[in-house]
Amino acid sequence: MILILLGPPGAGKGTQAALISEKYNIPHISTGDIFRQNIKNKTKLGLEAEGYIHNGLLVPDELTIKIIEERLNEKDCRNGYLLDGFPRTVFQAESLKKYYLGIKEHIDLVFFLEVNLDLVIKRNTGRRICSCCGRCYHVYFTPPKHKDKCDTCGGCLIQRKDDTESVILERLSVYLEQTMPLVDYYVKAKILYKLCGDEEITKVFENMCKIIDNCN
Ligand code: AP5
Ligand code: MG
Repeated sequence: MILILLGPPGAGKGTQAALISEKYNIPHISTGDIFRQNIKNKTKLGLEAEGYIHNGLLVPDELTIKIIEERLNEKDCRNGYLLDGFPRTVFQAESLKKYYLGIKEHIDLVFFLEVNLDLVIKRNTGRRICSCCGRCYHVYFTPPKHKDKCDTCGGCLIQRKDDTESVILERLSVYLEQTMPLVDYYVKAKILYKLCGDEEITKVFENMCKIIDNCN
């Protein structure tokens, strides 16, 4: 099963992807997470991507497509996966289509998580991430039991560098201009499912599971 999650910054893609990955036992592949890991480890890719990410811009298509194809060729992807944050441009979607034609695969479902744009700022500014295990929290919606400490591993909670208000607004504008056209692109391909991302995490998840279970 190959699934794609589309939606604006803070729509809940990463949150839902983690739940789906666990329930359906498929890898969660987030291009944002791959880039952040490389930035943390100061790799060549991390150094190349850092400037774009911290300014809220997209990493160039060629670089992004190369890293995603490498990831999809890994063994754990043989029984499907969930893509979070890729594709993000029509060019990336076309490249993915060509890649699947070459390996005789296809995308099963694309979920479009629609959220009220006011929520985008609140969701992103309030997000906190565990610096050790990566678990995601929110200061209002899903706070940790102890301030700035991860419930799972006790690690310190940190804020993403691109979660400042000015960078969030830039990410949103890039999203509206470059990623929104993918909604029509996948409507035309008849694989897009629109979901209300304003609802509670468990409700959104329940709605997604119904669609996945109907598709199997
Ligand atoms: P990426 O990491 O993909 O960021 P994004 O798309 O901006 O999305 P976010 O991760 O901010 O939000 P999310 O939808 O995952 O929300 P989350 O679940 O965390 O990309 C970062 C950067 O990398 C890009 O800007 C770009 O530079 C680069 N990049 C990545 N992919 C690329 C590509 N394909 N091409 C080029 N460049 C690329 O939720 C947010 C918060 O809200 C959390 O605190 C969560 O707890 C809370 N929350 C979630 N759902 C709910 C809910 N239903 N109710 C209440 N709170 C909720
Ligand atoms: Mg995310």
